[in-house]
Amino acid sequence: MKNRRGLLQGVVIGLLLLAVAVTSYGVQQGLAQDAKAQATIEKAFPSSSKCKRCHERVFEEWETSPLSRSIHTPTFRAALDAYLTSSAGKDKALCFRCHAPHVREFADQAQLFVTQAQSGEPSLDGVACVQCHLIKQVDRTKQPPEPKYDIGSKTMYGPYKDFAQNLAHQSMELGLFHKSDLCLNCHQVVPAAADLGKGNDLLGNWDQSKAVKSGKECQTCHMPEQVGESANGEAKRKVANHTFPGRIGQLRQEAAKLEVSTKVDGEKTTVTVAVQSLVPHNLPTTHPGWASVVLELEIKGKNLKTVFNDKRVYGRTYADAKGQKTVFDFEAVKVLEETVLKPEEKRVETFTFTTPKDTKTFDVEAVLSYAPVTGPAAFLQRIEAESSKGAQDPVFQSIPIAKFSENVPIAR
Ligand code: HEC
Ligand code: HEC
Ligand code: HEC
Ligand code: HEC
Ligand code: HEC
Repeated sequence: MKNRRGLLQGVVIGLLLLAVAVTSYGVQQGLAQDAKAQATIEKAFPSSSKCKRCHERVFEEWETSPLSRSIHTPTFRAALDAYLTSSAGKDKALCFRCHAPHVREFADQAQLFVTQAQSGEPSLDGVACVQCHLIKQVDRTKQPPEPKYDIGSKTMYGPYKDFAQNLAHQSMELGLFHKSDLCLNCHQVVPAAADLGKGNDLLGNWDQSKAVKSGKECQTCHMPEQVGESANGEAKRKVANHTFPGRIGQLRQEAAKLEVSTKVDGEKTTVTVAVQSLVPHNLPTTHPGWASVVLELEIKGKNLKTVFNDKRVYGRTYADAKGQKTVFDFEAVKVLEETVLKPEEKRVETFTFTTPKDTKTFDVEAVLSYAPVTGPAAFLQRIEAESSKGAQDPVFQSIPIAKFSENVPIAR
């Protein structure tokens, strides 16, 4: 009896050990395969850490830019999961086509990109150096425009004709690097579940804007020219700022102007706010789907107490296949409402309210800002859980663009 039990126990333990061994062998095999796949990918698309050695200035600028975090943010992780678990989420490579575009050359490794992004600390790059500097052509006849990568050639394409030689790579001048075309393959259109007119267009009629007609390209504003070292120890020359100023940075002050006028007419007061966009493309650009800019008006009366407030939202509202509103552009089949500020548009908003009582003056405050992330509660909770900063993650804060305030006397 005792012996048979012992035998049984032995068999059970043996089977368990075998199972553990098989699983861990499987896991190790999997890890080894992933490491091998990553090495193959990085042979074709060398890691940015390889460039840092000689291009320290550029690397440090890029590292502070949102581009360096294109598959790292808690929001991207949460949105990627929302996509993969939705009925639209069949193509695992879709999001990476722009967020880590080397996936285009390694379509069969899409799962590796997903696993790395989900880990929260991907060692694969997102939009890094060679993801731009190996592009030798952009095909704008495609929607979205498609980059052609020159992999395995050891040539870095860039803006200089008179480049200094170096031991790591060949260099070649390409006009593309001074042109918006380079940026358009990721910034012009996002593929959508259904045909939303011209695909899901992000920029609007940017090419008809005054700025673009006067010769400005995306780089003029988003990679401003400066003087510095293009490679460590090289003579100073004209270089391009790689911090990619956008929502963060000085450029924001050039986004819009507010002109406010207030008319007190007895019991009734009317405030007119003209929002002048100075941006030669849509403001905001409409991906991700929750992107919006908000104009808030607040009136403070006696004892600085708020007596009136109201707002206008500039963005795009989508509906999914069931006709429900959705912030996820990947499942959008219809645009319900479009209020984005068009390129260089001036939008005039009127607010009417009862003139504040028991006071000789009142304050008018108008603020234009990028709104925080919005969406279903589960999605917001997921971002919070994914972020090391929790509810303090910057995506939950609005970013002010322009402010106006004045004190208005009430004539007796
Ligand atoms: C391979 C795709 C790709 C290309 C090419 C690309 N971008 Fe981007 N860009 C992105 C992604 C993805 C993000 C968002 C990163 C994030 O926040 O996670 C981004 C973010 C930005 C931002 C920050 C936006 C903000 O909200 O603050 C700016 C500015 C920008 N890109 C400008 C450019 C310019 C200028 C070019 C061309 C020289 C360019 N990009 C080319 C993919 C690309
Ligand atoms: C056609 C290129 C393209 C595709 C495809 C694309 N994105 Fe983006 N994505 C961008 C660009 C460009 C930005 C920066 C936009 C800006 O700041 O105005 C961006 C920004 C974002 C952001 C905000 C920045 C951040 O990292 O928190 C999220 C989230 C995001 N994308 C999620 C996704 C998901 C999920 C998918 C797949 C369903 C996807 N994107 C597919 C180009 C793309
Ligand atoms: C989103 C695309 C993009 C990314 C990412 C990017 N670059 Fe560039 N880079 C450009 C463009 C465009 C120019 C030329 C801009 C111009 O002259 O108008 C440029 C210029 C350069 C130059 C020559 C002038 C200078 O600014 O020093 C070097 C060197 C360079 N990049 C290296 C890098 C390295 C290294 C990285 C990664 C740390 C990187 N780039 C990331 C697009 C990019
Ligand atoms: C051994 C040092 C070294 C390494 C490593 C290196 N570079 Fe360079 N690179 C240089 C030098 C030197 C120049 C010439 C700069 C000049 O002429 O001002 C240069 C020029 C460039 C240019 C400008 C080419 C042109 O014609 O406009 C680009 C783009 C570039 N490098 C990208 C990269 C990228 C991306 C990596 C990483 C994959 C990298 N470099 C790694 C030294 C290096
Ligand atoms: C005349 C200057 C100018 C040009 C040219 C320009 N932009 Fe912008 N862009 C701005 C300003 C100003 C803002 C708004 C303030 C900010 O976010 O910094 C902005 C915002 C952005 C943002 C982030 C904010 C958002 O709404 O999501 C992206 C991404 C962007 N631009 C991409 C591009 C691309 C791609 C091109 C080329 C097709 C381009 N821009 C051309 C001035 C310019």
